[in-house]
Amino acid sequence: MANLSVDLAGIKLSNPTLTCSGTCGYAFEYADFMDLSKLGAFVTKSITREERPGNEPTRIVETRAGMLNAIGLANVGLDRFLKEKVPLLKKMPCPVIVNVAGHSFDDYTETCAAMDSLDCVAGVELNVSCPNVKDGLTFGTHPGRLKELTHEVKKVLPHKPLMVKLSPNVEDITATARAAVEGGAQVLTLVNTFTAMAIDIYKKRPRLANVTGGLSGPAIKPIALHLVSRVYRNVAKPAGVPIVGMGGVQTWQDAVEFILAGATAVAIGTALFVEPSTPNKICDGLHEYLAKMKVERLSELVGALQLPGDEPRQSPYP
Ligand SMILES: Cc1cc2nc3c(=O)[nH]c(=O)nc-3n(C[C@H](O)[C@H](O)[C@H](O)COP(=O)(O)O)c2cc1C
Repeated sequence: MANLSVDLAGIKLSNPTLTCSGTCGYAFEYADFMDLSKLGAFVTKSITREERPGNEPTRIVETRAGMLNAIGLANVGLDRFLKEKVPLLKKMPCPVIVNVAGHSFDDYTETCAAMDSLDCVAGVELNVSCPNVKDGLTFGTHPGRLKELTHEVKKVLPHKPLMVKLSPNVEDITATARAAVEGGAQVLTLVNTFTAMAIDIYKKRPRLANVTGGLSGPAIKPIALHLVSRVYRNVAKPAGVPIVGMGGVQTWQDAVEFILAGATAVAIGTALFVEPSTPNKICDGLHEYLAKMKVERLSELVGALQLPGDEPRQSPYP
């Protein structure tokens, strides 16, 4: 069998599948539906310093090729996370990455500092890109502020890899990607959801109480793929920073596309609502693909996409 293991700035994953933050709770909520031990890594729901009830319902709407959510970062907050969720996370059979969100530098640094000393936490993913909360985009859309935030967070997180999750709701994602790397991001994750809306034509009102929400699922995959490819070529590859690609990943073929575009690993979110065992199935498909392509290590394929004008790649596979 081919080797699917990947390394995310020191976090060793047995395979390249992660869960997307916010789509499967804090730990064992999906244990009855997927084999957590076969996940590359589990990413928790965003944690904020204070507990948040989130937005009023309706918070989720199904769309033709995905879903719109405006959960508004509903979460238990740092204190309850430490008391109630960490004991469970200690039992997780795969590496755990905690996703942290906030509204101020202090919010982020206090929560991240608490993560640095937890043995059960393999890394931290900064959510600077939630489109569904007031101020949620403030850091993710301003390169200067993002660089400063990343720098401040890295100071309080000396022992854990820092991942920064980029928003697609920007003019130039390479500018925010570069800012995150200059601030000290060791992994880039992209993308979060796209700001979007749906309308109830009989009530003549938005279907989400928040008016707008974040679009995810198959509808966004080609756009996410393009953004991963751009960030890989312009920022991540030259800086030697791995990418976790996400946005509509549903099949092993989707995963291969993201990896060829430059992702070292992929995260799966909306597809879990349709088929919770999607990450496990993606690994099965990757094994078959690598055998067919006569490739021994999945990591050989990272960024192997050939664009017109590229130098021919030295490669052991066809
Ligand atoms: C219901 C729902 C809740 C989400 N909550 C969060 C969150 O708390 N933090 C975060 O960083 N991203 C959150 N996201 C965004 C996902 O992590 C992911 O970036 C996005 O959905 C694209 O991947 P997908 O198309 O595979 O779902 C959420 C997405 C959904 C659908």
